[in-house]
Amino acid sequence: MAKTTLWLIFFNLSLLPCCFAALQHQFYKGKCGSFDVEDVVHDVVSKRCRNDPTTSAALLHMLFHDCFVHGCDASLLLDGEDSEKTAFPSLTVRGYDVIDEAKGAVEAVCPGVVSCADIVVLATRDSVSASGGGKYKVKTGRRDGQISVAKNVDLPPPFVSMQDAIARFAAKGLNVKDMVHLLGAHTVGVAHCSSFKDRLYNFTGTTKPDPAMNPLLLRSLKHQCPKNAKVDNTANLDQNLPSSTVIDNSYYQQILMNKGVIQFDQVLSSHPLTKPTVTALATAPAPDFYKIFGEAVAKMSDIEVLTDMEGEIRSSCRATNKPK
Ligand code: HEM
Ligand SMILES: *[C@@H]1O[C@H](CO)[C@@H](O)[C@H](O)[C@H]1NC(C)=O
Repeated sequence: MAKTTLWLIFFNLSLLPCCFAALQHQFYKGKCGSFDVEDVVHDVVSKRCRNDPTTSAALLHMLFHDCFVHGCDASLLLDGEDSEKTAFPSLTVRGYDVIDEAKGAVEAVCPGVVSCADIVVLATRDSVSASGGGKYKVKTGRRDGQISVAKNVDLPPPFVSMQDAIARFAAKGLNVKDMVHLLGAHTVGVAHCSSFKDRLYNFTGTTKPDPAMNPLLLRSLKHQCPKNAKVDNTANLDQNLPSSTVIDNSYYQQILMNKGVIQFDQVLSSHPLTKPTVTALATAPAPDFYKIFGEAVAKMSDIEVLTDMEGEIRSSCRATNKPK
């Protein structure tokens, strides 16, 4: 072989780990001695899910709010006076303690190796399967971002228009089908009355309820959210009560019956661009739904990730290692 060819091969190989590193399946395999990082996270998360069946809702919500703001880099997790988690749309994100516990368990066996961004992705995956939602594969190798600013938080409001929602998802590399598949996360969890109260009493300034809402749902939500209530109660996003904490396709069935709680959920079931996908999912066999939903969440988990020498591996998910 010519000297230049050899040199070229060497040059390319030496560049690989530096500049072409990407997310991969089982990135941490062999990087944590005899411990399997994914098992360590799984043990913590499955225990937390047994104790609190709403854990999957907390983590799916957290993943969405992390990934849509500055990529899936755990910037949402940083504490601070003016960090992302203090912004209005993210005030109801919960489950940070679950990530702290998983991070603690991982740090105990191999400190400084596993990013918080990957732990959020792995923990969400494990919580989905613990809530009946099937298993899906995710890639790892993310690094943690150091920038977390409240004013960067620009998430779709509950009354977002279809056109605006599609544009926001497209800006993150997600198409209309991905968006409908991801909204399947509203098959678990709750919304506060403040997120949908206008639909009950004064929809778009009409002083009347949203005509798109099923009358039985309207009655029960009015009961749950009295007009002049001082406390901000919650209502299940999935109105099929027996499966309100189960990852299944009942959310799609409910919104087709006009039982969407969030205004945009209701728009999803009637808009010509999304209705066919909603209908397909509402009637999909369970294994098909698990696969479709899992793949969509895995795709969202890869938005604008940091790899290589960017970012950091934090020791606490709540604070950067960066000196102040
Ligand atoms: C156009 C897109 C979306 C809109 C407008 C939207 C809107 C909302 C609203 C208003 C709430 C209630 C917040 C509250 O009152 O506390 C909520 C909750 C939730 N959202 Fe979304 N969402 C969207 C997309 C997503 C995506 C992509 C996911 C995840 C894949 C997701 C997962 C959740 C979960 C799990 C909850 C319940 C949280 C809990 O129980 O603590 N959402 N969403
Ligand atoms: C209904 O909403 C409109 C506009 O959002 C507002 O101007 C009006 O005062 C509201 N009416 C009531 C009775 O709350």
